[in-house]
Amino acid sequence: MPAYTHGHHESVLRSHRVRTAENSAGYLLPHLRSTDRLLDLGAGPGTITVDLATRVAAVSATEIGEQELDLARATAAERGISNISFTVADAHALPFDDDTFDVAHAHQVLQHVSDPVQALRELARVTKPGGIVAVRDADYSGFTWWPASPMLDRWLDRYRGAARANGGEPDAGRRLLAWAHAAGLTDVRAASSTWSYASPEERAWWGGLWADRIVDSAIARQLVETGLSTPEELQSMSEAWRSWASHPDGWFSVLHGELLCRVP
Ligand SMILES: C[S@@+](CC[C@H](N)C(=O)[O-])C[C@H]1O[C@@H](n2cnc3c(N)ncnc32)[C@H](O)[C@@H]1O
Repeated sequence: MPAYTHGHHESVLRSHRVRTAENSAGYLLPHLRSTDRLLDLGAGPGTITVDLATRVAAVSATEIGEQELDLARATAAERGISNISFTVADAHALPFDDDTFDVAHAHQVLQHVSDPVQALRELARVTKPGGIVAVRDADYSGFTWWPASPMLDRWLDRYRGAARANGGEPDAGRRLLAWAHAAGLTDVRAASSTWSYASPEERAWWGGLWADRIVDSAIARQLVETGLSTPEELQSMSEAWRSWASHPDGWFSVLHGELLCRVP
């Protein structure tokens, strides 16, 4: 099974757990039908998954291992959602028959896989003709913020280096349309959307989780082990995040690309 740049440290899950179908899959929601069978590839802690499950007949959630699947299982149990099945799966070779799903969804997954075109081919293969492949991914070079901070510039540079060293593509959002075309998908609607953080509460949450993540999560280990950074530099980045979070003018925008593909 593949490596996952972020790992599942508490500071990573803190970021994923606020995700809802509305704030992360809004572009897909008008197209869902109550009779749909939906695949949620790379469900993570499953907060989007359980929301989607309230809108369709059945959801199949996947993760890269049983331990990772337990996170989504726990979220489904907490919310009392029972129409989700759980399967270990790698995006490059999905363990599902052709034409199984009405909708195949992946949020913030393609940026982490080594061959996103193959992953899109697989998502299309398991989707019924006339069904939808819906993907949304961040575009790190499109992140923008204020006030300017050389140490946050360095954070972005180092993060992108770690993601690429791991076989991923941190600037995935801008490439999604090209990847879909390369996968043979021709009926594709491409767009973009953002998350923004500018209130004191939002800044404390976003700045605080990155301040922890850059010193405590799997990314921190990788940056040091690969020689892309040092513990001292990571500590300075963490402090830069806290300083941004406490600045009354602090503003941050997270760019995403998103695609709705109609399967032929
Ligand atoms: C950024 S998280 C997104 C989780 C969830 N979709 C969300 O947005 O909250 C990416 C997830 O993709 C999974 N993943 C990474 N590589 C994968 C692969 N090759 N195939 C399937 N899933 C993968 C990771 O384990 C991780 O949980």
